[in-house]
Amino acid sequence: MFVPYWRQNSAASAVLIPGWYRIGYELTQRLIPGLEKEIRTLHKLVGNAVIDGRYLVVGTGEMQLMMAAYSTVSMEAEGLPVNVVIPPPYYDAYERQVKTIKPGTVTWGMPSLTLQNTENWIPLEVVISPNNPDGSIRTGALKHPRTRTVYDHAYYWPHYTPITGPLDDDLMLFTLSKTTGHAGSRIGWAIIKDHEVYQKMQLFVVLNSVGVSHEAQLRAAQLLRSAREGYQKAKNVGLDGVPTDYAAQQLLFHFAHTKLRSRWDRMNQLFQASNRFLIAQDRDPKYCNFFKEIVRPGPAFAWIHCQREEDKSCLEIFKEAGIVARGGARASKASRPTKIVTSKDAHSSDCWQKAWPLNKAQIVKDIHSSDYGQKYQSNALEQICFQRNGKWPLSLAMPKTESKIYHPW
Ligand SMILES: Cc1ncc(COP(=O)(O)O)c(C=O)c1O
Repeated sequence: MFVPYWRQNSAASAVLIPGWYRIGYELTQRLIPGLEKEIRTLHKLVGNAVIDGRYLVVGTGEMQLMMAAYSTVSMEAEGLPVNVVIPPPYYDAYERQVKTIKPGTVTWGMPSLTLQNTENWIPLEVVISPNNPDGSIRTGALKHPRTRTVYDHAYYWPHYTPITGPLDDDLMLFTLSKTTGHAGSRIGWAIIKDHEVYQKMQLFVVLNSVGVSHEAQLRAAQLLRSAREGYQKAKNVGLDGVPTDYAAQQLLFHFAHTKLRSRWDRMNQLFQASNRFLIAQDRDPKYCNFFKEIVRPGPAFAWIHCQREEDKSCLEIFKEAGIVARGGARASKASRPTKIVTSKDAHSSDCWQKAWPLNKAQIVKDIHSSDYGQKYQSNALEQICFQRNGKWPLSLAMPKTESKIYHPW
């Protein structure tokens, strides 16, 4: 979804890294100052998290920071078992992570019934909000007095959900993967209230990977900086435009929000024509403090239930139709739901509209024969694929000092 935006903003987002840049471990400076500044500034600009007076730990994505959180809680658990609990449906990579890596005293799921009501275990609840896969806004569910909570707010950005206020949880995780789309750069950050928790999280990152790639951090800094600069140039822009115009104005959140909105509109119209499928998601509009208007959430996933008894596996039904979806079994502990990734292009060189094979909608016969189905098919491949603009704006003037690297031309 984000590639066309970044293609249109190549110059503003590019980084040039000379060979001498931060060669060593840089033991005293884990988080490069430019990235720290941009993370703090962007959170303030968007208003999605309290950041003043909070500690920051950068990690190789949220996946590493979640490991750091397990390790932190298990260091403080004084030998008691720590059980990671997430009410379904959830982002199932965390389950696989705990089960495969088996960190410390940490195990997956509720403990045995005999232990559950005692104080002899520590629940570590992971609250993913907005949730993957169903986009729900969640708060902690566990009542156990020793519960420790990690908040994964990867999707609490204006493209996916209305920003209703700054979050102020004790331990919150965010990631570049969902903010700017750069999942491959492997940059996530934790916002932490407590100094000891901060130290333990940082220690994990140091012992696990001796910090985070300086190149990745620099790239992240430049990406966040370009997003921030776009909004500093243009104020109070409404949401009635089209994504390409917003990309031209360097307004990342407007671009991504309107892109997701149009995908959701199309999908809703299509699915409403049928009672075979149910999109089981709350998308009630709310006022967004960032956009300064009422908006509907545009989750990165559609969480779909197949309604007919005979449709035993939703995933298979979509697969037969050539529709790219992911099974919901692992996330929900049930075989029927499935999820469609609304935020993902089929592959980087194609566009989402092509991946959505409406011309193969025979499987959805009742949709196919509806008015919308017919109309849609004629526009199915309306041309919104990005064009490589061919201009790579580097005139490779090598910077001589670090302060110039950041934005070298
Ligand atoms: C809820 C949630 N948390 C974390 C991640 C992974 O984040 P990262 O790429 O920073 O490791 C994902 C990726 O899909 C996700 O959906």
